[in-house]
Amino acid sequence: MKPELLVDFIRELYASTEFIPLHEPFFGDGENKYVNDCLASRFVSSVGKYVDLFEERICAYTGATSAVATVNGTAALHIALLLAGTGPGDLVITQPLTFVATCNAISYLGAQPVFVDIDQKTLGMSPDALQLWLEENVDVVVDKSATSSESQFKAVHKQTGKRVAACVPMHSFGHPCQIDKIISICDTYGIPVVEDSAESLGSYYKGQHTGTFGKLGILSFNGNKTITTGGGGMILTNDEHLGKLAKHITTTAKKPHPWDYEHDMVAYNYRMPNINAALGCGQMELLDGFLEDKRETASRYRDFFAKQNGHCFVDEPRDGKSNFWLNAVLASSPEDRDLLLKVTNGAGVMTRPAWILMNRLEMFKDSACGDLSNASHIASRLVNLPSSVRNT
Ligand SMILES: Cc1ncc(COP(=O)(O)O)c(C=O)c1O
Repeated sequence: MKPELLVDFIRELYASTEFIPLHEPFFGDGENKYVNDCLASRFVSSVGKYVDLFEERICAYTGATSAVATVNGTAALHIALLLAGTGPGDLVITQPLTFVATCNAISYLGAQPVFVDIDQKTLGMSPDALQLWLEENVDVVVDKSATSSESQFKAVHKQTGKRVAACVPMHSFGHPCQIDKIISICDTYGIPVVEDSAESLGSYYKGQHTGTFGKLGILSFNGNKTITTGGGGMILTNDEHLGKLAKHITTTAKKPHPWDYEHDMVAYNYRMPNINAALGCGQMELLDGFLEDKRETASRYRDFFAKQNGHCFVDEPRDGKSNFWLNAVLASSPEDRDLLLKVTNGAGVMTRPAWILMNRLEMFKDSACGDLSNASHIASRLVNLPSSVRNT
């Protein structure tokens, strides 16, 4: 395929001769109304009705029983991992194809990531690779320090003696990974799953919303996501106790009282401000329309690439309903990918390669890894395409 054909196609798709970004936000009247109301109320920080309302709307939409709004998705991941029991010296299994925030959150807790390969179809963690790494590298031993409400056994890395404290699969670009298989494998090793669903609001696996399968899940509302609060995140869980703890820990562990300031542990100022939540409430009213529009955009890309030689559109995986957050294509070779990136960006149509794999970053290059052939193959060929909402 000549990359110029793709430039022409995207210009026609977005009916624009100007710079076309990868993903820009869209705002309607509701956001103006709610943000102005928030300003008028003077409650612009973490106290105010929109934070609660936004959390309620996310619960209703995703089916999670608890949703706790945070300043961003990275903070949500940090606390989700903390609540799943991750601590200093632990190992946390994740995938090498992800945004750096996944590994940063693991590191904030003094733990280290372990990388297992992705699945070629979902671009999320491969259950087979996970199973193989666990079989070859992990022993399950009785956990003498466990309380009666905790798992009575733990997974220990044979080589280092470190505990494998959690597993963090990611729903890449909004495409659901095989989360049921991942959870069932982790269950046999007593490893809790924290779903990084930062990119997958509006994506479902076998009819259930992503982020609600694991012990905890998280969402991001960064400006480049399907809906945005400027900056923001959400912790999801179906465990009421964990939901309450998440809210407490993200609000400096302040004990509820009309005037006293008493805190019962060292905690975090991670609560989403009301002004951001007001934006989120408005965006939630547009979400269904955004998803329909993005599905239509994906179908236009699918039809376009079906007529081209050598480039393969990354489509909705089996059993999954994708939000098509960021569309992607796999070029036939790394050289073709580079040419595609050069020509499109040179013509004012923003495209970008996959993130540099996490195991190749200086901070994580010594982490334990399984065989990462799929991730290497995909990362050298993948190009993300403009995916903003077009009509609303
Ligand atoms: C996979 C993944 N995890 C975590 C995050 C972190 O979210 P935030 O940018 O809101 O901190 C993002 C997005 O930015 C992401 O794409």
